Amino acid sequence: MYRSHNNGALNLSNTGQEVTLSGWVQKIRDKGFMIWVDLRDRYGITQLIFDEERTEKALIEQAKTLGREFVIQVRGTVIERQSKNTKIPTGEIEILVTDLTILNEAKLPPFTIEDETDGGEELRMKYRYLDIRRNPVKDSLIFRSKVTQEVRNFLSNEDFIEVETPYLIKSTPEGARDFVVPSRMNEGQFYALPQSPQTFKQLLMVGGMDKYFQIVKCFRDEDLRADRQPEFTQIDCEMAFVEQEDILNIFEGLTRHLLKKVNNVEIGDFPRMTFDHAMKTYGNDKPDIRFGMEFGELNEVTKHRNFKVFDDAELVVGIAVPGAASYTRKEIDKLINWVKRPQIGALGMIYVKCNEDGTFKSSVDKFYNQEDLANWAEKTGAKPGDLICVLSGITNKVRAQMSALRMELAERLGLRKPNEFAPLWVIDFPLLELDEETGHYHAMHHPFTSPKPGQLELLDSKPGEVKANAYDLVLNGNEIGGGSIRIHDKEIQATMLKHLGFSEEEAKAQFGFLMDAFEYGAPPHGGLAFGLDRLVAILAGKETIRDFIAFPKNNAGRDVMIDAPSALDEAQLKELNLQLDIVQEIE
Ligand code: AMO
Repeated sequence: MYRSHNNGALNLSNTGQEVTLSGWVQKIRDKGFMIWVDLRDRYGITQLIFDEERTEKALIEQAKTLGREFVIQVRGTVIERQSKNTKIPTGEIEILVTDLTILNEAKLPPFTIEDETDGGEELRMKYRYLDIRRNPVKDSLIFRSKVTQEVRNFLSNEDFIEVETPYLIKSTPEGARDFVVPSRMNEGQFYALPQSPQTFKQLLMVGGMDKYFQIVKCFRDEDLRADRQPEFTQIDCEMAFVEQEDILNIFEGLTRHLLKKVNNVEIGDFPRMTFDHAMKTYGNDKPDIRFGMEFGELNEVTKHRNFKVFDDAELVVGIAVPGAASYTRKEIDKLINWVKRPQIGALGMIYVKCNEDGTFKSSVDKFYNQEDLANWAEKTGAKPGDLICVLSGITNKVRAQMSALRMELAERLGLRKPNEFAPLWVIDFPLLELDEETGHYHAMHHPFTSPKPGQLELLDSKPGEVKANAYDLVLNGNEIGGGSIRIHDKEIQATMLKHLGFSEEEAKAQFGFLMDAFEYGAPPHGGLAFGLDRLVAILAGKETIRDFIAFPKNNAGRDVMIDAPSALDEAQLKELNLQLDIVQEIE
């Protein structure tokens, strides 16, 4: 038996007991006549003591050979500690060791295995198994497990069935590139890894499963960010015989259940906001509504004062930054430089200080009088003491720039509080989105999303205006889930694909199986998928999903620990019928 207790279990009530413990050596304090060792496992830390007066000399000599991260087993007696540590559950006792076995030695770790480590991110990724021994990473994985378990509890209680769908499939159009896998048995042919199980879950509805869920890996070859990984996990769900309202209710219930069970936070009905309103008010389809700073459109109150920049602008928009009228000239210049960085791309920023005495001081006093500026204050909801920041230009661009500025200022002002949760539904998404580069429309969610009733007719005349039965769940400024009511009629699906630029042959080749299935009694259905990594990170008050994935990829999509991706050897390439010369040329 390696252990009678774990390292977080013992306390004063165990005093006098003989125990066996195993774990890693976290720390050694050698005072010569007395040696203390902190023994660590997943559950905690127990202090071991070797003492000249009470411990055999040979055992003390053995203890002196220990190094950090050695794996050891000890036997000993639980005794009360002299100087107690009230911060940990085992802090009032220690183990007077009578036997020590070194189970495995360890090289000196490349970084300290403590809550605050000296290891940089790349180094910690390379030795992820050591990083996982640290509390912050270990606790994140335990937290994730708890969330996953609560998801299963809730959905199983609601009669959802967990079904696995295949990973070796053909392309599912979720808007990213596919990762592909060559087929050895089918020369020259490839599987695609699923960007989501979208088509399979729809087929499960045709198959009569009624309520499906799956906690499932998805693969997308897209540019990586803090909230994106090439392989990530979805809580993927689908239901038959439902309308949008049914779906919003069920998954609002799931989110509320998680907030209650995991965070002990009770939240009432989630607000619902149309996509158009979100864009107009927050410049963004995933608004963080934990704080205000809502957009005030200023076109009406800025035109015809001979300020050409605003006169020429499609949109003039401002936000009131609470308490920022006290910013110095230097601080404001810094802010202006921030919006002018290429990543944001604004040409400049106009500002108005709303003085405590009710007067205004702006950077465009030459063009606008106090009455004008009072109108700006009214439109942006600015109060005395606030700073109004104004940007102008082409509507879409200005909204994106102002949204970035709003988030940055909220971050700086400490308004994005990690332990505050503000979920909302964004609904009525456009069905189609114009690709500015190609001039073509593509599905904003995916091609299986149904238009709102009565809007199909607009597809020809005003494709950009057609609204979809599509919705996103947003939490603290992050899209944590999205879904839609699906098309379940073969003809409508065919029309949709035609509008998305698929020829009849292409549609048949790619989605024939789905359209065929629709001919055998497809029920009305819809669903949604949560991004589990994002959901977990946000519930934990963080935004970087890497920290909640056991073995994540770095920003270049590499696993630096196992060194993947990597080249294949010649024999393997040949077996897969991959042309060697082409692969070598690329190398
Ligand atoms: P969607 O593409 O919106 O919908 O994805 C659902 C959710 O998955 C998360 N997500 C990601 N998380 C981490 N890394 C990524 N690269 C990544 N991409 C997406 C997001 C997102 O909200 N089949 C549809 C769902 C449906 O219609 O039912 C789908 O996949 O949190």
